[in-house]
Amino acid sequence: MTAAIAADIAPNHSTERAKVSTMLTPNFYRTDYAAIDAFDVEPIRAEWNALMKEFSDDKNGDHFDRDEGFGREVTELPPALKEEFIEFLISSCTSEFSGCVLYAELKRRAKNPDMADLFGYMARDESRHANFINQSLKDFGLGVDLGFLKQAKKYKYFEPKFIMYATYLSEKIGYARYITIHRELERHPERRFHPIFKWFEQWCNDEYRHGEAFALMMSAKPELLEGRNKLWIRFFLLAVYATMFVRDHTRPELHKAFGLDPTEYDFQVFRITSECTKQIFPFTLDIDHPAFRAGLERLCRLQKTVDAAKAEGGVMGAIKRAGCAVAAVATFAGLYMLPVVRHAKLPQVRMQAVW
Ligand SMILES: [Fe+2]
Ligand SMILES: [Fe+2]
Repeated sequence: MTAAIAADIAPNHSTERAKVSTMLTPNFYRTDYAAIDAFDVEPIRAEWNALMKEFSDDKNGDHFDRDEGFGREVTELPPALKEEFIEFLISSCTSEFSGCVLYAELKRRAKNPDMADLFGYMARDESRHANFINQSLKDFGLGVDLGFLKQAKKYKYFEPKFIMYATYLSEKIGYARYITIHRELERHPERRFHPIFKWFEQWCNDEYRHGEAFALMMSAKPELLEGRNKLWIRFFLLAVYATMFVRDHTRPELHKAFGLDPTEYDFQVFRITSECTKQIFPFTLDIDHPAFRAGLERLCRLQKTVDAAKAEGGVMGAIKRAGCAVAAVATFAGLYMLPVVRHAKLPQVRMQAVW
């Protein structure tokens, strides 16, 4: 198995792919570490301490150990599914490791004991997640060199409030993605084509808890949720949803293997994420608006045209790509202008993971 797969994808292929930074691939971030370290959790001390207790209890402490049957359960996959599955693993591993690197750096620089606790726990979890996925890539002879990636990957600077919105959303959408796949495979165990999916249920609880920490932090600083910042929240919601939608539609074989239509899967993930974000954001995107779905589908078509134009190359290819970029910005702007769904403030921030 490993030799056959390693032979048709060159060594370091996965590290090279993980290193690429585009709109659709996971990015690495740096920020104003001192500003985040200055975060005061006193207004939410009781909820904060309860959450830190959950982190220190570490219920998933031994969850990310592979059992003996793991390796034996890895079977040969049809080539198209194999290619998409490996790409899914590389992208997921990079995304988990991106969180690990950011949280570890926040922990390393922390002078505030509350922030040191939080980011220490979250770096611990994300390191387990990234390494667990990477073990599966290594089974294929395609492990990502995470040490090299940390050095070689480009880092984007995000100011602290953008880190809050983006990481909060990526944790909650990560939860929604893992739980949706888990529920589908729970109903149809015959579709579980790789053992890693057996780990998703407990795994997603870590992501959910990480999101809870950011929700509490934002609730302690309500100005992050008011005024012009609402425009940024809207932007990040749409950017995260649209990116996921376009990326997932490049993986038809993977979704077919799950028995999930990518559009229906993504809308289920949107629904769960929207329910989660009601805990803190004053509105959700109107995901049931017909123009919302139509806009996302247009972004997918544009992406396909871009991919074809890239393959074509030359002047014509470049002109087509430029045209698509303009059309994508206009489509995104149209989606951004759609009305949002406002809701009343919930009595408390913490929410149970009930999905
Ligand atoms: Fe994670
Ligand atoms: Fe996480």
